[in-house]
Amino acid sequence: MMAAEAYNKIEFFSGDSIPLEMHKVRMVQRLYLLPIEERLAAMQQAGNNTFLLKNRDVFIDMLTDSGVNAMSEQQYAAMLMADDSYAGSETFFRLQKTLQEIFGKEYFLPTHQGRAAENILANAFVTSGSHTMMNYHFTTTKAHITRLGGTVHEVTTDEVLNVDSTEPFKGNIDLQKLKATIDEVGADKVAFVRIEAGTNLVGGQPVSLQNMREVSQLCRRLGIMVVLDASLLADNLFFIKTREEACREKSIAEIVLEMSQLMDIIYFSARKLGCARGGGILTSSEEHFKKMRTLVTLYEGFLTYGGMSVREMEALAVGMRETLDVHVISQTPLYVEALGKELDKNGVPTVKPWGGLGCHVDATRFVQGIPQDQYPAGALAAAIFITGGIRGMERGTLSEQRNEDGSEHLADMELVRLAVPKRVFTYSQIKYVADRVSWLYENRELIGGLEFEEEPETLRFFLGRLRPIGDWQEKLVAKFKKDMPTGV
Ligand code: F0G
Repeated sequence: MMAAEAYNKIEFFSGDSIPLEMHKVRMVQRLYLLPIEERLAAMQQAGNNTFLLKNRDVFIDMLTDSGVNAMSEQQYAAMLMADDSYAGSETFFRLQKTLQEIFGKEYFLPTHQGRAAENILANAFVTSGSHTMMNYHFTTTKAHITRLGGTVHEVTTDEVLNVDSTEPFKGNIDLQKLKATIDEVGADKVAFVRIEAGTNLVGGQPVSLQNMREVSQLCRRLGIMVVLDASLLADNLFFIKTREEACREKSIAEIVLEMSQLMDIIYFSARKLGCARGGGILTSSEEHFKKMRTLVTLYEGFLTYGGMSVREMEALAVGMRETLDVHVISQTPLYVEALGKELDKNGVPTVKPWGGLGCHVDATRFVQGIPQDQYPAGALAAAIFITGGIRGMERGTLSEQRNEDGSEHLADMELVRLAVPKRVFTYSQIKYVADRVSWLYENRELIGGLEFEEEPETLRFFLGRLRPIGDWQEKLVAKFKKDMPTGV
């Protein structure tokens, strides 16, 4: 068999096999692992909020896959060819052409990142009293919509909250719920229906192409616009290709084009999709394009850069093409599965089936007994950092906004996300993470709650500072040193 053909026939590893990397690493960054007392001091200085840690104090940074994915040599090479100018640069036209070809949509509006695209969309289409349905909200999406007086309705299948599921497309929209919600508010009051593929806050769970088709058909019949948040599309495409029977024989490029035809607007964070920086909005409607473009010039920059540097745009154009390669997009899902399996062996509860974006540890089952208003997932994220220098992200009640009356809005799920940025870590680092989190699980009765010391009004999880309730963190350090006398 010819080498190229053999390459294309490599099966994805499953079972107990090795999650094989289809790349080699030729540029590296030195890491340092602080002793546990210093990790405790760093966590306390950061107000028990992993967003406020200094990167130099972090050993394995699993905060996010946003803007920290490894880029390819082709992406770096393209950055050197960037054509810099305020208006009309060749770089922009290269990016525009690439996106037009991949998505089959005529118009592209650049933005500086994903939430900037959400700001433009919300300002263009959300009015006070309007309604937006979506499979699940994302923090920044919801904040932009509610700021303008819109209401967000979640119409995901009930299964999405089952943390021990075998459902391959847990992120799907429930058609009955969608229909009932539209009937209730009236189709003319719907700003748009948003599909987040895959879902972020509920464990990186994918949406099937079939579900997108059904949502699109319903919305087109009712004259409602469908918007795709494609920030996490790379992982979702891998799951469509490997889990959706009808798509097995389709190429990733064919799946993207078919999906795109079902959508009126597609937006994305290029900090995730395309392993670059920046973001943007795609549409085939001239009317929508014109409505949004003035907002781009107002908030983002001129229409041929939208807040992105030309180097970012070149990297994005190449990264988008690489996203069509199944061996590129397989890397995060395979590592998430590898981490999930290691944790599973030791009984650590994770969200199943393992999805994209990262491995999600289920804090509700991990630290039983901490009430939700003492932020069990926040406490677990702090404990994981102290235990292993591993930085995850709270995705639970801390990440919610308080209700209007000031009471806590308790999250549906209490998760710690251990994000797996694309092509960044090695398999042994994944095993280290599993080892340290498993040690913590064995010692989980030591973990206590957190309370706010300083609580910002919006998006409090970014900048809020918290303190431990009691001295549980010191006790955790003492036990760690007893079990691992070197302290690392
Ligand atoms: N939509 C989704 C589904 C996202 O995951 C994100 C970002 C955004 C929109 C906003 O994009 O950050 O470029 O402004 N998620 C990051 C994360 C922050 O860590 O999950 P952005």
